[in-house]
Amino acid sequence: MAIPQSFLDELKMSCDIGQIVSSYVQLRRSGRTSKGLCPFHSEKTPSFFVYHESQSFYCFGCGAGGDVISFIMRIENLGYIEALKFLAERVGIPFPEEEREDPALRIKPMIYEINRAAAHYFHNILKSPAGEPGRRYLMGERQLSSATVTKYGLGFAPQGWDNLRSYLRGKGYTDEQMLLASVVTRGRDGKSCYDTFRNRVIFPIIDLRKNVIGFGGRVMDDSKPKYLNSPDTPVFKKSRNLFSLNFAKNKAEGTLILAEGYMDVIAMNQAGFENAVATLGTALTPEQARLMSTYCKEVVIAYDSDGPGRTATNRAVGLLDEAGVKTRVLDMKGAKDPDEFIKKYGRERFKLLIDGARGATEYGLKTIREKYDLGDAAGKAAYLQEAAGYLAGVPSAIEREIYAGRLASETGVLPEVIRESIGRAARRAARRQERKTSADLEAGRLGAMQGNMRPGESAGDGILGCLYHHPDWRGQIAAEVDPALFPSPDQQAIYAALLEKQKTGECTLTELAGTLSSEQLGRLSGILARVSEGYFSISPEALPDYIRKMKTEAQKKEIASAQNLDADQYKALAEKIKRDKQAKTPPKR
Ligand code: GTP
Ligand code: MN
Repeated sequence: MAIPQSFLDELKMSCDIGQIVSSYVQLRRSGRTSKGLCPFHSEKTPSFFVYHESQSFYCFGCGAGGDVISFIMRIENLGYIEALKFLAERVGIPFPEEEREDPALRIKPMIYEINRAAAHYFHNILKSPAGEPGRRYLMGERQLSSATVTKYGLGFAPQGWDNLRSYLRGKGYTDEQMLLASVVTRGRDGKSCYDTFRNRVIFPIIDLRKNVIGFGGRVMDDSKPKYLNSPDTPVFKKSRNLFSLNFAKNKAEGTLILAEGYMDVIAMNQAGFENAVATLGTALTPEQARLMSTYCKEVVIAYDSDGPGRTATNRAVGLLDEAGVKTRVLDMKGAKDPDEFIKKYGRERFKLLIDGARGATEYGLKTIREKYDLGDAAGKAAYLQEAAGYLAGVPSAIEREIYAGRLASETGVLPEVIRESIGRAARRAARRQERKTSADLEAGRLGAMQGNMRPGESAGDGILGCLYHHPDWRGQIAAEVDPALFPSPDQQAIYAALLEKQKTGECTLTELAGTLSSEQLGRLSGILARVSEGYFSISPEALPDYIRKMKTEAQKKEIASAQNLDADQYKALAEKIKRDKQAKTPPKR
């Protein structure tokens, strides 16, 4: 789809990447680059860089990269066109009118419509005679009231391959449209489609604007998989939404409860705790932690009381801490999750449990204490050692001081001794972190994941860097470099896109943001970052070198697979290699 170049140019001029990124990330500038903590993955030391000259960003930690538009696409979870609109609005440039008619813009509303129709269908089936198995499960076995079922719009997907599909067909939707919403799935033959959810109770997932964005479906017995969730679609990103936040956000009063399962959240709601949310079948992400931080000051973590639940709890504590949210941890005894606890002991006791939930530090120390026998000198020493290490990682100095005192009275060891050992552990951890960061950065700069690179891949990156910075070399490079020579499919895609876009002149990350995937943009930004840092040479002398290296590797690969060739094929290959060698003339400027 064609966005007028004049609009893109104006937008690029008005949106300084440093300025835009600064409203999301605290940046420290030094010279031509700025750095900060990457908003796309969780980190304690900055590996996220903004390059002011090339108006690009790149994270050496997670490989995210691009220009200001791809930054907005990622951080605001928007499509290309939506990101353009977002930025245009922000800097006050009118968006070109005729683009409103673009069909890409109608995809999301259409998916919302299909999802809403599907949710209605599932819900109506649940209430109909055909919904008997679902009702028996949800209202019988799981003891949900009809008010709760209605509040969450719970549903039932009957047995059979074609129920929802026929229903949606009747409403005029095509298979292609249903596939976009992932309510049907493509069969192995690549042609037929069948209902994604079959013989499951259905939990619609609703966003903050009350759109149905996806579904969770649970089996009613012990078969596997227990839950089936919609895959990510253009309207559904699991990492950026939370189940029931649409209800919880109005009831938070400063506190949200974070649980593992849909059923936990629903059971808590039914018991009057409406400020509960859950992740969508995945571990908590930094985005979700930040999302929660906009609705509350404190999160009570109500994860399962088993081993994996504890690990997940510690992770969540860290992420929420980074998002600036205080945490308390529910210490459930006698039940594996909130749903079971409420069923067994009732809402009053659950309220006591919530009110009594202690800070994450206390919870952490308690889990450590339970591992040791404090009646024994060696056990006590080991406990102190681990507890000091743990406290060293607690960000609040006041908290460290309080718990140092408690540890002292608990073990009879002098508080100074404990403070000293926390200090030592903190210094050790800081040194470790520093070494790790500089090693990561070094490795990233010297060729991002070079260890995982295929032979010839780094030379390929060199060629792409040359092409990006010198559109005037396009003719020679295109004549010399066959796309198939690039060892990585992402490189091939970047190469094809650059050649295509440069036909009509210079082309920056901005023009490519609509064409390349976010991984590909990240890769290209990584190349540009390394060029800026001087680890890649972009010169008429370096280019033939890169080309030679990549060709050599490609030939090696061909020869390696030649063992499987018959005589004629082998002869043809030998001829080709000879031709390639003779044709090799370095491109001139
Ligand atoms: P009940 O067993 O019905 O009480 O559900 P629960 O919500 O307590 O489930 P559980 O604690 O086992 O899992 C927590 C969450 O993890 C669920 O709500 C799902 O989002 C997710 N989950 C559990 N099992 C699966 C599975 O088999 N596949 C996927 N994709 N997600 C799952
Ligand atoms: Mn459960």
